[in-house]
Amino acid sequence: MNINFKELANKYQTPYYVYDFDHITAQYEELKGAFKARKSLLAYAVKANSNLSVIKHLANLGAGADCVSIGEVKRALKVGIQPYKIIFSGVGKIDSEIKEALELGILMINVESAAELDRVEVIAKELGKVARISIRVNPNIDPQTHPYISTGLHENKFGVDIDTAKRMYIQCKNSDSLEPSGIHCHIGSQLTELEPIKESVKLVADLVRNLEAIKIDLSFFDVGGGLGIVYDDEKLIDTNEYAQSILEALFGLDITVVCEPGRFLVGNSGVFVTKVLYEKINGEKRFVIVDGAMNDLIRPSLYNAYHKIEVLNDNKELSDCNLVGPVCESGDFFAKNIDLPKTQHNDLVAIYSAGAYCFTMASNYNTRGKVAEIAVENGVDRIIRKRETFEDLIALEEEYIK
Ligand code: LLP
Repeated sequence: MNINFKELANKYQTPYYVYDFDHITAQYEELKGAFKARKSLLAYAVKANSNLSVIKHLANLGAGADCVSIGEVKRALKVGIQPYKIIFSGVGKIDSEIKEALELGILMINVESAAELDRVEVIAKELGKVARISIRVNPNIDPQTHPYISTGLHENKFGVDIDTAKRMYIQCKNSDSLEPSGIHCHIGSQLTELEPIKESVKLVADLVRNLEAIKIDLSFFDVGGGLGIVYDDEKLIDTNEYAQSILEALFGLDITVVCEPGRFLVGNSGVFVTKVLYEKINGEKRFVIVDGAMNDLIRPSLYNAYHKIEVLNDNKELSDCNLVGPVCESGDFFAKNIDLPKTQHNDLVAIYSAGAYCFTMASNYNTRGKVAEIAVENGVDRIIRKRETFEDLIALEEEYIK
């Protein structure tokens, strides 16, 4: 990544997120290339980074979209992703969302419970539509990742067990308003072990064969997302081995592979850049206080997640500190007990691997406007989301003051 953080800070102020669009392209091409032996669709998991320009960049590369709200579906459509490349997942879809998805004619609704299938059937009937259905199977396999981002165990709320899935496909087959179209399985995020993926894909492929035997033919095999990235020193799953093991499990099946990567495509494209306000010592403890905070990037506070941090000054002498923001919570930190150089007011601090689940999880806590987002492509920078102003923050309340 060849980005001049100082120049961007002078031009756009801090804090900001910057995304390297060339990195996103390279990641997309790598994964798409790994599946070249088959028809495949990479449906970008919009929740990872839903900036319209990011989605548009992926759309231009040929990506579809995996969405978890009708808002995300509309973002994808807004930048020109065709409805036939859009999947709508999520355990709690609202009636109005199901209705809109059916009216928009997206590729599939990814159904996560028997009760939801009944709702979709009723709504499709009312609209006189046929809903293309994919069922999310929960294979009860431990993905060996952080418990908050593990989704493929029966103790997690996601998907249905294999027997329930089978019954639901039979319901689809027997209904005039439902069409069995795909099958889906996503066991977790930031996966660094191939074995659990292999195991679950095999299990789901067996179900596809069982369904074939009772004349239920599916068109799409959706392996979910989950490929991990390097935050620290993780050893990653090789994308070719990943694709290969999926294709092997699907041997003999005439089915299109769908994959829903989020973090893999955008995670390491992004850097959060913030600047030092003050240093202080409380008793023995040194604190470096920056202008970015947990409301901008919550992963360290929420998951104790590690993000590589670099102070952009020439000071080589390191000492222990906590890197914290201005928010009124002890949980407002980017790192605890980390060795950083002595800083001066206005020194910049880069927080890496901030392209996925960072801006999208930001809030306005403490009446802090969301920060600016910048794209760099072919060495040229451009703003892709303006910094929020105080006026933006009060816009929906102001008229109600009595
Ligand atoms: N498909 C489904 C059904 C998902 O639930 C997810 C992520 C993805 C695809 C994309 O997964 P990815 O390729 O990005 O791993 N906020 C957490 C991550 C939550 C992931 C939720 N589901 C974090 O900051 O680590």
